[in-house]
Amino acid sequence: MKGIFITMEGPDGAGKTTQIEKLRDYLEEQGYDVLLTREPGGTVISEAIREILLNPEYKEMKPETELLLYASARAQLVQQVIGPAVEAGKAVISDRFVDSSVVYQGIARGLGIETVYEVNRPAIGKYMPDATFLLDLPAEVGIARKKNQAELDRMEQESLEFHKKVRDGYCALADRDPERILKIDATLPIDSIYDMIKSRVSELLAC
Ligand code: TYD
Repeated sequence: MKGIFITMEGPDGAGKTTQIEKLRDYLEEQGYDVLLTREPGGTVISEAIREILLNPEYKEMKPETELLLYASARAQLVQQVIGPAVEAGKAVISDRFVDSSVVYQGIARGLGIETVYEVNRPAIGKYMPDATFLLDLPAEVGIARKKNQAELDRMEQESLEFHKKVRDGYCALADRDPERILKIDATLPIDSIYDMIKSRVSELLAC
């Protein structure tokens, strides 16, 4: 079996986890050994970097520091987990990948898309996703869904204006790369969203 790499993107609170679990079940039914991972995280080192990135006390963190830490966590994850799994013929589903850096650091933080790709090139190597699902949600709705949580992390504490830039950035990215990125309205019922994901993945498997 040829390995596949699928990523799920979207703002905080868009429901990525639910869809990832459904997609895992589907891919297992298709005979795949499925590996789930998340960014930032997925290895001991990357989870340690995640703690730094999301710590709400580190308000003084500079955008450049943030960009490099996300890329560092990614480099470790790709080399230690994603790359070997894809080469072994597994299906890898990642909750977020480099598109998050493009949107959050490149667009919302204003560091620029090209800078983000340059920094991430050594982190990613040849491993770009075969398909990406963008669960699109108005910023206000995403924030309202997350507000029920006990404590918001450093990124979630960002302003509504920041989260609106994230949303617009994701939409622009999906418009630029419709072959890879499928944008889905995350306010639709869970099963409708899942049907769209399944249909795109079954096309991918037929290739
Ligand atoms: P997480 O709790 O995983 O968010 P979610 O449940 O919404 O997926 O936190 C990850 C946060 O890090 C999220 O706010 C998005 C942000 N992020 C970046 O800014 N750049 C990146 O490259 C990645 C992977 C995540």
